[in-house]
Amino acid sequence: MVNMKLLIGLTVLGFLSLTYCCEDPAQGAINLAQNGAATQSSDVHPILGTASKAIDRNNQTNYHIGSCTHTKLEDNPWWKLDLLKSYRITQVIITNREDCCKERLQGAEIRVGDSPNVRDNPICATIMDVSSGARIPLCCKGMEGRYVGVFIPAPSSIVTLCEVEVYGQKIEPGPRVCW
Ligand SMILES: *[C@@H]1O[C@H](CO)[C@@H](O)[C@H](O)[C@H]1NC(C)=O
Repeated sequence: MVNMKLLIGLTVLGFLSLTYCCEDPAQGAINLAQNGAATQSSDVHPILGTASKAIDRNNQTNYHIGSCTHTKLEDNPWWKLDLLKSYRITQVIITNREDCCKERLQGAEIRVGDSPNVRDNPICATIMDVSSGARIPLCCKGMEGRYVGVFIPAPSSIVTLCEVEVYGQKIEPGPRVCW
């Protein structure tokens, strides 16, 4: 009986810690993206749509207002954030464009790791559903990395992001906070 209770307890605890990591970040959590540096595979325009528009603290979803990124139409486009050191990433929240074209992010891969080459890093999540609103929360379950990339593994594609928020913790010795 005791063992059963222990088992149930551990299962509930495991579930809670898992959901904790996938929920919206705690109020006041620091968005790591704001101290990073953004680049992308190409710029469709020298001012409108540059890579830093995804970390400009403005989640405006109309591209023409000038707060969203936009690569050229190309094969395997990507956007990348360099956090300057490795973090244990819990959530990545992407704000999609809404004035048109939200389906362009369908199938985009969020990749986290220490390689500056986006496609060499493991996938933390894939955007499966762009229909449920501009704000797309993705769970990285404590995956470690200095780079957070958004990669579309397809020909003739465009990466457009209106905001990217990244939440996580410093990597410190000791037990993992988040599995
Ligand atoms: C943009 O940010 C505001 C303020 O935090 C929030 O209320 C709103 O829902 C956000 N919009 C999107 C599309 O995420």
